[in-house]
Amino acid sequence: MHSQIPGCAAANPSYRSALRAANPDTQSPRHPDFSYLSLKFHHMSKIALISGVTGQDGSYLAELLLEKGYTVHGIVRRSSSFNTGRIDHIYLNNPEYRDKRMFLHYGDLTDSSNLNRLVEKIEPDEIYNLGAQSHVQVSFEVPEYTAEVDAIGTLRFLDAIRETGVKTKFYQASTSELYGNVLTGDLDKRLRRDDLITGSPDIGCEAALPSNRLRSSLTETSPFRPTSPYAVAKLYAYWITVNYREAYNLFACNGILFNHESPRRGETFVTRKITIGVSRIMAGTQERLYLGNIHAARDWGYTPEYAEGMWRMLQADKPGDYVLATGETHTVKEFVDEAFAYFGETLIWEGEGVNETAKLSASNKIVIAMDPRYYRPTDVEFLRGDPSKAFRDLQWAPKVKFKELVKIMMEHDSGTGN
Ligand code: NAP
Ligand code: GDD
Repeated sequence: MHSQIPGCAAANPSYRSALRAANPDTQSPRHPDFSYLSLKFHHMSKIALISGVTGQDGSYLAELLLEKGYTVHGIVRRSSSFNTGRIDHIYLNNPEYRDKRMFLHYGDLTDSSNLNRLVEKIEPDEIYNLGAQSHVQVSFEVPEYTAEVDAIGTLRFLDAIRETGVKTKFYQASTSELYGNVLTGDLDKRLRRDDLITGSPDIGCEAALPSNRLRSSLTETSPFRPTSPYAVAKLYAYWITVNYREAYNLFACNGILFNHESPRRGETFVTRKITIGVSRIMAGTQERLYLGNIHAARDWGYTPEYAEGMWRMLQADKPGDYVLATGETHTVKEFVDEAFAYFGETLIWEGEGVNETAKLSASNKIVIAMDPRYYRPTDVEFLRGDPSKAFRDLQWAPKVKFKELVKIMMEHDSGTGN
């Protein structure tokens, strides 16, 4: 298939036939005799196909895989404006990679024939399905589309693997949203927090927990109780991945990733909204930042480390499902405090609910206020993950914790970093 992405060269349409011409017996692009054919194809390197390559995670993963010597193919969906900003530095502006070890293809998770063609032509060793309508609040506005892309899109990809018979490994971008409020039990009183802490076998949270700090953390065996159309769609994707692994012996893994952030985080997610908003307030170009449920708590990690975890899952001996998390949880309010603390500012919080505000202690100026538009019909109140299994089996451990993460994002958005 030809890429028609403005400014991007076309991916070679006859990838496999070129290989066969080089050696008619060759069924795999990784055949050693192929090296003389064209320097363009680093056939000895592994080949990865990434959906969602233009997103936060996809951009870091593409970088990581290129650094590891992979050839990377990315799926880009058509947009009326440029949507490759997060990967321009590794594709558009990098002659070493562009159309040599990195290729972009138009595609969409709503288009089965497109996915079939890409899988058949590229014959990837590894597929990372990161593409999604990933905004939880937006999923309440477009629930059907979210299900089409996030749930059925995953099925389409898995079926493309099954139908083409391409031998490949599959990573599914599952999420801590699957758990909903099982830790706090707000939505379903049958799942009490106490049960989880003491590890009632009835709800499957009796897994060995490494320390007291993590005793109320979510593991691969904790129950799922999704609380948004996004999370429900992702629940389907989780189970269809497990089912295809079991039914067709696919090497398919779910990465149950807790929130991870970076300077490339989309600007409508709360961390980036805060780091941009606080930077503008302190620069005097914005009066006030309006937020929603600031008492929600998340386990926030640093995205490049999570991209490494995704890759490690597909290098394991056996396929499985893994939690990636820091084990540390903070509220949105604490994130706001920490962002202002970057500038040495302290906030004074007043009021409750939609009337809660925060003013700068130095100037008494109100800089944070609530806007009911940002409240969700149902929200996840508290998430904390236990990454012990990933540590044990993949030797994955996150180094960047909350304070360091806020600093990295503030340095970037305030332009005060090196
Ligand atoms: P993101 O920045 O919103 O990126 C989503 C990507 O999916 C973008 O490249 C987007 O394209 C693409 N996409 C959207 N609809 C598509 C469609 N119909 N067909 C093909 N591609 C489509 O999300 P992210 O933070 O990188 O997250 C990556 C994945 O991990 C998502 O599946 C998300 O649900 C999941 N996840 C994220 C987190 C987190 O904290 N970041 C945690 C757990 C799970 P455009 O660039 O054109 O919009
Ligand atoms: N976006 C946003 N905007 N969220 C706000 C705001 C606001 O103004 N004010 C408060 N919040 C609260 C939300 O209600 C939520 O409880 C929390 O901040 C985090 O919201 P988001 O940053 O939008 O992320 P999310 O946790 O809903 O979803 C992200 O993480 C999931 C993993 O747990 C997304 O990346 C999902 O794709 C991902 O699966």
